Amino acid sequence: MEFTLCVANASHYSWAETICTMMEEAAKIRGTGIAKRAPEYIQKKMAEGKAVIAFQNEKVIGFCYIENWEGEKYVANSGLIVHPDFRNSGLARAIKKAIFDLSKQKYPNAKLFGITTSMAVMKINSDLGYRPVTFSELTQDETFWKGCQSCRNHDILQRTERKMCLCTGMVCDLSKISQAQTEINKKRAWDSFKTFMQERKLRLQKKANLFHFNHQKK
Ligand SMILES: CC(C)(COP(=O)(O)OP(=O)(O)OC[C@H]1O[C@@H](n2cnc3c(N)ncnc32)[C@H](O)[C@@H]1OP(=O)(O)O)[C@@H](O)C(=O)NCCC(=O)NCCS
Repeated sequence: MEFTLCVANASHYSWAETICTMMEEAAKIRGTGIAKRAPEYIQKKMAEGKAVIAFQNEKVIGFCYIENWEGEKYVANSGLIVHPDFRNSGLARAIKKAIFDLSKQKYPNAKLFGITTSMAVMKINSDLGYRPVTFSELTQDETFWKGCQSCRNHDILQRTERKMCLCTGMVCDLSKISQAQTEINKKRAWDSFKTFMQERKLRLQKKANLFHFNHQKK
């Protein structure tokens, strides 16, 4: 598929509204709460040179931007969106690679992290060098976690005292990533990601059984 990618700037302001609508529509379909963004916020990211935008035939088809937390210690690549007509063709992978490179260029010593329920995003993150972590390894900045309040699963995060939720947390230490991942490394990382997920599932099942058992005893 043919598309062009670039770091967004002030000349792209007029696309901010379309990008917000794409994000909102996707959140409705997924039934999760992708934090609502205002067009002004998207424009701010464009002005700061902290966003990547994708076009086909002068029509915007994808977007992602950088956020930082606790100063420059933690960085997240947020708001990833691909227009529904252009999915499953590698566009998200290309956008994520571009925003990853931009993040590394701007914040070479930061911890790049993300939380997601999307397997496609987890796969791309794993290939880029992210590893799955518990939430305690992510930023503890309250403003980041406030973004989860619009998610319909927020009660789970509250009940577990922010220890776990349906999202998986992933981190990549940008100061330790020097080269593009080799195919062997990518496969190794994805295999250990799947093991992490499997072990987490077993831990959760165990907890649920214990809860059920204690409940029956009463
Ligand atoms: C998630 C989203 C960005 C993916 O965009 P996309 O352009 O279709 O993704 P790509 O085609 O670049 O590739 C996705 C990769 O994940 C893989 N993938 C997809 N589903 C997968 C699954 N269930 N398990 C493992 N890998 C999966 C694909 O095979 C592909 O990997 P490959 O290149 O090795 O074949 C897009 O569906 C979207 O915009 N969704 C709505 C918004 C959203 O969910 N944003 C993410 C918020 S965290």
